[in-house]
Amino acid sequence: MYRTHNCGSLNIKNQGEQVTLCGWVQKIRNKGFMIWIDLRDQYGITQIVFDKERTSLKLFEKVREINREYVLKIKGTVIKRISKNSEIKTGDIEILAEEFEVLNISQTPPFTLEEKTDGGEELRMKYRYLDIRRSPIKKNLLLRSKVTQIIREFLSENGFIDIETPYLIKSTPEGARDFIVPSRVNSGKFYALPQSPQTFKQLLMIGGIDKYYQIVKCFRDEDLRADRQPEFTQIDCEMSFVTQENVINQFEKLLKTLLFKIKGIRIEKFPRLTYKESIEKYGNDKPDLRFGMELNNLNYLLKGNGFKIFDSNKINLGIFVPQGSSFTRKEIDNLTSWVKAPQIGANGLIWIKFNLDGSIKSSIDKFFNSTQLIKIFKKHNGKKGDLLLIISGDEHSSRIQMSSLRMELASRLKLRDPNKFAPLWITDFPLLEEDKENKCFNSVHHPFTSPKSEQINLLDSDPTKITANAYDLILNGNEIGGGSIRIHDSDLQEKILKLLGFSKKEAISQFGFLIEALKYGAPPHGGIALGLDRLVAILGGQEIIRDFIAFPKNNSGKDIMIDSPSEIDKEQLNDLNISID
Ligand code: AMO
Repeated sequence: MYRTHNCGSLNIKNQGEQVTLCGWVQKIRNKGFMIWIDLRDQYGITQIVFDKERTSLKLFEKVREINREYVLKIKGTVIKRISKNSEIKTGDIEILAEEFEVLNISQTPPFTLEEKTDGGEELRMKYRYLDIRRSPIKKNLLLRSKVTQIIREFLSENGFIDIETPYLIKSTPEGARDFIVPSRVNSGKFYALPQSPQTFKQLLMIGGIDKYYQIVKCFRDEDLRADRQPEFTQIDCEMSFVTQENVINQFEKLLKTLLFKIKGIRIEKFPRLTYKESIEKYGNDKPDLRFGMELNNLNYLLKGNGFKIFDSNKINLGIFVPQGSSFTRKEIDNLTSWVKAPQIGANGLIWIKFNLDGSIKSSIDKFFNSTQLIKIFKKHNGKKGDLLLIISGDEHSSRIQMSSLRMELASRLKLRDPNKFAPLWITDFPLLEEDKENKCFNSVHHPFTSPKSEQINLLDSDPTKITANAYDLILNGNEIGGGSIRIHDSDLQEKILKLLGFSKKEAISQFGFLIEALKYGAPPHGGIALGLDRLVAILGGQEIIRDFIAFPKNNSGKDIMIDSPSEIDKEQLNDLNISID
């Protein structure tokens, strides 16, 4: 037997018991007459003590040879600790060592394997298996496991069947590039890894499955960001004979269950915004509702006063920053440079402070008097102590710039509280957007999303005016899921593919199987996919998904631990009939 207990399980109730523990040496403190070891395993840390007086001298000498990350088996007695450590579960006790065995030695780790580490990102990724020994990463992986367990239970209780779909498939368009796998036995031919199981889950509905789910890897060759990985995991679901309302209600219940079981938070009903409302109020389609600072179109108050910037620009958008009147000149200058930087691209930032004493100070004092400026605050419930920031420009880019400024301010003012959860649904997305370059349209969601039935007639006259039966689930300013009611009529599917620029031949070659399947009594159906990595990260109070994935890729899509992607040898290339110059 290796152990009687794990390193997180002993407490004062075990005092006097003889126990055996196994684990890694996290820390050694040597005071000459006493040596303490922090022994770590998945469950926690237990302090082991070697005392010159109470431990045999031989044992005391032997322990001096131990180093960090050695794997030990230790036998000893649980004793009460004199100086307690309230930070750890086992902090009331320690083990007075009587015997130990080195199960394995270890090289000195390249970085500290503690709560806080001195290891940089690159080093931690290269030695990810060591990084996983650290409690923050381990905690994230445990959270991930708990989340998937709750999801599986919920979906299974609600009648969803877990069905696997293939990984070696043909392109499924979700807006990114495919990862391609060459076929050896079909020389010159290639598989694509799924960007999602979209077409397969629809085929399952045609196959008479009523409710499907799968926790599944998806692969997308796209630019990486903090919330994107080239391979990531979806909770993919599809249901037959459902309306948009049915799907939304079902998955609202799922997220409510998760928030309650993981965070102990009850949320009554998730708010909903249409795509148009969201763009108008927040400048984007994934608003963070943990704080206010909505966008206000101030044209009606600002235009017509002879101030050129306000008069000549299409829109003058303002946000009221709570308690922002205390911003220093330097802070405002810094924000101005921030919005003017190329990645944001605003022309400038106009500011008006409504000071606590009721006075006004602004960058447009020369053009507007205090009474005019106070009126703007009053009209929009702006309070003494607030700061009004205005961006003027064309409608589309000003909204995007303002939305970035809103998020930046929220971060600087610490309004993005990781312990708060603000979910919402965005509905009524446009079905198509114009692709001027290729003289066709692109799907806003994906090509299988249905238009609102009452707008189908617009397909011939004004396709960009059509609203889709599509919905996104947003949590704390992140898109954690998206779905739609699908097209179940093959003629309509063909028509949409034509608008997307597919010739009949291309449509048949790429989606012939689906168009044909839709002709065999396809039921009305719809579904959603949630991004598991994002969901877990947000539940864990973060937005960078990397540390919620055991073995993630770095920012250039590489796994530097196993050195992938890597070259393959000539023989393998020959087998695949691929030549690289
Ligand atoms: P969509 O493309 O919106 O929809 O993807 C669903 C959810 O998956 C997550 N996600 C990602 N997470 C990490 N890294 C990525 N690269 C990445 N890309 C997407 C997001 C997103 O909301 N087949 C449709 C779903 C449907 O219509 O049912 C689909 O894949 O959280």
